Amino acid sequence: MATTNPVPRFPDGFLWGVSTSAHQIEGAADEREASVWDVFTAEPGRILDGSTAEVACDHVHRHTEDVALLAGLGVDAYRFSVSWPRVRARGGLDFYDRLVDDLCAAGVRPVPTLFHWDLPAGLDWRERDTAERFAAYVAEVAGRLGDRVTKWITLNEPAEHTLLGHALGIHAPGLRLLFDALPVAHHQLLAHGLAVRALRASGARDIGIANSHGPVWPASQEAADVEAAGFYDLLLNRLFADPLLLGSYPDGLGELMSGDVTADLEIIAEPLDWYGINYYAPTRVGAPQGTEIDFGGVRMPAELPFSVREITGPQVTDFGWPVVPEALTEILTTFRDRYGDRLPPVVVTENGCSYEGVDDPERIAYLDGHIRALHRALEAGVDVRGYFVWSLMDNFEWAEGYARRFGLVHVDFDTLERTPKASYAWYRELLREQRG
Ligand code: BGC
Repeated sequence: MATTNPVPRFPDGFLWGVSTSAHQIEGAADEREASVWDVFTAEPGRILDGSTAEVACDHVHRHTEDVALLAGLGVDAYRFSVSWPRVRARGGLDFYDRLVDDLCAAGVRPVPTLFHWDLPAGLDWRERDTAERFAAYVAEVAGRLGDRVTKWITLNEPAEHTLLGHALGIHAPGLRLLFDALPVAHHQLLAHGLAVRALRASGARDIGIANSHGPVWPASQEAADVEAAGFYDLLLNRLFADPLLLGSYPDGLGELMSGDVTADLEIIAEPLDWYGINYYAPTRVGAPQGTEIDFGGVRMPAELPFSVREITGPQVTDFGWPVVPEALTEILTTFRDRYGDRLPPVVVTENGCSYEGVDDPERIAYLDGHIRALHRALEAGVDVRGYFVWSLMDNFEWAEGYARRFGLVHVDFDTLERTPKASYAWYRELLREQRG
């Protein structure tokens, strides 16, 4: 284990947690409406192992056991997502009502994400009114849970949902629109801004978003590679952070959105109480190579103005993602330098890795390295207030089905038995040490 040297102490009040999402763990698909993910999953060849999320971890029926696992772990907070298709079903909010009660009783702070990719089937982010419908749903959830929930997340990773779901067609809804997917990004950002207003109108405070960010490294110092990497950085990082933090789209991209977005930008830039960053790995990018390449299972079309290259050297996870803890320090200091006072306090809302096995020294090493890297960002003056491991338990990993395991708790998908891994015990110990 990589823990002989104790992790440095984080400030008092630092929020330690774990994350999950509704579609990935809940199951009980017949007790909710369908989502775009149900439709996508039913199409042949979409999911690596041919599986579905109909049962997943059966969390809806086993949430008591899962809350006990959270309490046993000793986390301060639990980030889960509310399924919009479940809220639309009769009595759908009852489940979240009970879950929030149980979490509060167990001394674990509930931190709901209001959208984690499971859009109700029939809705479409290409349509502007999806943003307004989202705000109405958010108001309903806040009305029901707002007396106990004191920290909120609007959206999870609109970047991935746009890129993987609408530009490249690897995630639901399976569209391959390339740059015509940009309005999907805009409508999600608008949905975020409207949701912030709806939450505040209902009296909610402490509102953030969970955006995926990471350093983009040029494949070489050749001008063409540097330019391609800069463009990719624009798409992954600035397209989703600039409008929220600066109230504008980065150069050139605003024009590609549908219509005049000036008034929308004012809504999108509604001040945030904190900014969530999901970090997994950096990306190395070079000039286009003229051929379609396979990158970690993602087919990158030849016509894109960049190509994603392999990062050689560091260890990789079972997913093939390089393990580069320093890049977490780098993205946090980059954000602080780029946005200065406009950046509110930061929370790392997801960080984790996929490895097999209940004895998982690689996961321990990954988390240990990243938590130390987070501490270095703190020492460098970044105002980081929390850290959430992805994920509490193994779950339905989107297009990879059950083939990738990110959990601190192992789930046997035949029996649904939960078994805490070595990393669960390690994280519990870390939290104990942090509290002195
Ligand atoms: C998503 C999670 C996902 C994780 C690992 C993040 O992009 O928010 O839902 O399971 O990465 O791929």
